[in-house]
Amino acid sequence: MAAVTVLCAVRGAAETDAVVALGAPGSGATVTRRCGDVTELLAAAAAGAGAVALVSGDLPGLDREAVGRLHAAGVRVVALGDEAAPTARLHALGVDAVVERYDEALLIAAVRDVTAEPAAAGAGGPDHLVLGRPGQEIDDDLPAGEDALGPDDAVADGGPPRRGSVVAVWGPVGAPGRTTTTLELAAALGGLSRGRRRRRGRGRREDAPQPVRESVLVVDADTYGASVAARLGLLDDAPGLAAAARAAAHGSLDLPTLARHSPVVGARLRVLTGITRAARWPELPASAIEVVLERARELADWTVVDCGPLLEADELLMYDTHAPQRNGATLAALQAADVVVVVGAADPVGVQRLVRGLEDLREVPVPVAGERVVVANRVRASAVGARPEAAVREALTRYAGVDDVHVVPDDAAGLDAALLAGRTLAEEAPGSPVSVAFEVLARRVRAAVPA
Ligand SMILES: Nc1ncnc2c1ncn2[C@@H]1O[C@H](COP(=O)(O)OP(=O)(O)OP(=O)(O)O)[C@@H](O)[C@H]1O
Ligand SMILES: [Mg+2]
Repeated sequence: MAAVTVLCAVRGAAETDAVVALGAPGSGATVTRRCGDVTELLAAAAAGAGAVALVSGDLPGLDREAVGRLHAAGVRVVALGDEAAPTARLHALGVDAVVERYDEALLIAAVRDVTAEPAAAGAGGPDHLVLGRPGQEIDDDLPAGEDALGPDDAVADGGPPRRGSVVAVWGPVGAPGRTTTTLELAAALGGLSRGRRRRRGRGRREDAPQPVRESVLVVDADTYGASVAARLGLLDDAPGLAAAARAAAHGSLDLPTLARHSPVVGARLRVLTGITRAARWPELPASAIEVVLERARELADWTVVDCGPLLEADELLMYDTHAPQRNGATLAALQAADVVVVVGAADPVGVQRLVRGLEDLREVPVPVAGERVVVANRVRASAVGARPEAAVREALTRYAGVDDVHVVPDDAAGLDAALLAGRTLAEEAPGSPVSVAFEVLARRVRAAVPA
């Protein structure tokens, strides 16, 4: 068998030891490049100079993006860990194997094993190798202290981590009501019962429907016009999502960190606020948003993501997985979503855009498995004529083949009052027709989540 070619980016004294060990006859490996930093390593990987990258866990610049680029170049990554670079963090970066402490034999075994394994499906998957800690499982990364977590968020002692659902709310340009839908749907999901809970009554146990409050996290991933913070009257303009994404990129996004960046606001919603200026979009790369949403499933029963209106990926950049994509955050949310709510405005222009939007959604460059739930928002006679609901239904059936559109009526005065008060309509005018329409939508979304 040909020797495994290794790109070595190890810091300190271990570097020479590793190069000598891998170069020894019988190791089955050979060091083809000694790299001083991440940039050099990435260049060597892109040039096809090696099959495995051996890196120090604390190599500056080693983040998820860098590991993703190495993988894209077909290079497996073996990390050397220590106290400064604990195993769980290295796995969160997506490395293929971790050697927990320097040991010649373990190192050689790791380099050989990663090339023998088929490619890992994704970062942090269960198949990663950990060497140096035989028989031990990877840390589950659960919070050490739960001070940052609210009462609803406590992870049941010893129980399996929560696995909440992700809902992406998308819609074409023209302000069809993505943010309104996100917030009202979130409020409605939080107020609904997901099922029956056992309770004791008058000495006997019985099954009775009981309102079970569920926790909801709202994520503002609209990189063109974030507005969740403003809608809820939050003054702090530190974008929580960007901070969480940064932690995710460095492999340090644990539950307390995510909770800290997503404060609980009115209506008991947690909120990860969006970027305050559109130019900051590179702070929300898909590779990090992916991790944020995965972690969010542990924090909240429901994560509702307000997406940006555009879906295209820059095709010239598609083959360079490192190049940041303008719509990466939206695409990551669509890919992660269990349910995709598609919102269109119920007027002649809005309906046409919705029909095209549904086509665009079918052609997005990422797999979107979540069930689509189509919403026609602001249904009103003044825009489409008498019997507006029937008109909108008929148009969507005819032009988009959608025969179960969910309609939300128009209530400008109600939504203006909610906006002025910095609250959701669910709080401001519970029971109003629009509020009720979003409650019905919440039931629909709940039913669309795969078991
Ligand atoms: N059902 C409704 N009835 C009346 N007004 C509504 C309704 N839904 C949304 N609006 C209003 O329409 C405006 C745009 O809504 P929203 O901000 O939710 O749209 P968006 O799709 O998120 O827009 P943007 O592209 O700016 O992100 C807001 O002023 C909102 O209050
Ligand atoms: Mg919006």
